[in-house]
Amino acid sequence: MTTSPVSPAAAPTPLPSSLISTLPGHYYTDPEIFRQEQERLFESMWICAVRSADLAKAGAFRTVQVGRESVLVTRSRTGALRAFLNVCRHRGARLCTQETGEVRRALRCPYHAWTYDLDGKLIAAPNLARMPDVDRTEYGLVRVALREWLGYAWVCLADEPPSFEETVVGAAVERLGDAAAVERYGIQDLALGRRVSYDVRANWKLIVENFMECYHCATIHPELTDVLPEFAGGYAAQYYVGHGAAFGEEIRGFTIDGSEGFGRLPEIAEDQDRRYYAITVKPTVFVNLVPDHVILHRMFPLAEDRTIVECDWLYAPEVVESGADVSKSVELFHRVNTQDFEACERTQPAMASRAYRGGGVLVPTEHHLGMFHEWLIGMLGGRDGGSVHRRH
Ligand code: FES
Ligand code: FE
Repeated sequence: MTTSPVSPAAAPTPLPSSLISTLPGHYYTDPEIFRQEQERLFESMWICAVRSADLAKAGAFRTVQVGRESVLVTRSRTGALRAFLNVCRHRGARLCTQETGEVRRALRCPYHAWTYDLDGKLIAAPNLARMPDVDRTEYGLVRVALREWLGYAWVCLADEPPSFEETVVGAAVERLGDAAAVERYGIQDLALGRRVSYDVRANWKLIVENFMECYHCATIHPELTDVLPEFAGGYAAQYYVGHGAAFGEEIRGFTIDGSEGFGRLPEIAEDQDRRYYAITVKPTVFVNLVPDHVILHRMFPLAEDRTIVECDWLYAPEVVESGADVSKSVELFHRVNTQDFEACERTQPAMASRAYRGGGVLVPTEHHLGMFHEWLIGMLGGRDGGSVHRRH
């Protein structure tokens, strides 16, 4: 075998093809692939479920969809958060049918009134005394693993959850260099200034991919690129810039018109001032850090073509307590969200087109999306011979 000499300048290093082509369209439309994602991602990894402070009082609860399960998160009388499968152990009725609520002492099934305490123990059932063979300790609610971080309750449905430190905290640290850089924002102590829930008619991966790249910023985010001019170049801050994207010279705050925001969060470092950082915590969380607030998105994928995104704008407690008007800072990222989700919804129907059967292409500023695709394919068991291979 002979090779012809080529000058290095004339031979750009070929990238592996997996880093150039996207996933084929059916990854975004096939219910079977979505089912596998539910099983291998959403029901296996740590999922950010509920903001801890939303459940301030004992007995407050919230239900969230995690994979194919409804998960009930509640605050017990000892003050700890607990998570359970939202399923009555008698004959399987959904225990809490509301998304949020508050009970005084116990959770009572609306079907035959089996009643559980806030630690999930079966404490009462009609005629239970006449059923000596029903062992109450065996019929408590099924517990779900729960960890608190950044002021949110993260849950994991796996029998043996993966390391929280490696898979959740590690992802944030990887992007910001060290854990202290994230901790300086004191996210767990911030207060909720605004929450918007978006019902997005698109596959969750389109939303992740959109969040991870900034090639679209110059086209669809005029307000954001005014505030962060380097975004117009298409390089996603979280993968290329490293130090976070700098505010434009004339910009005074991370607001819709670049006007003054609020006081800088007290602990952040000098080099974190006037910068924007973005973190993706796979599979369903995006965090944006700016000097005076934090924006945290939680996704709840409901179907292959539908995802609920709940977005929280978090400020220093004194900002929220003072009743200050946060609308100028909320409006900036709300507009970004709206622009992004419209783009995702415009893309979703085309995923089923024969034009996209083989997928699309990633330009150099998007090549890091290839890593996301490789990760996904690995989690689903591989592209070839794996269970996600397209059946024609
Ligand atoms: Fe809940 Fe019967 S199904 S009490
Ligand atoms: Fe965007």
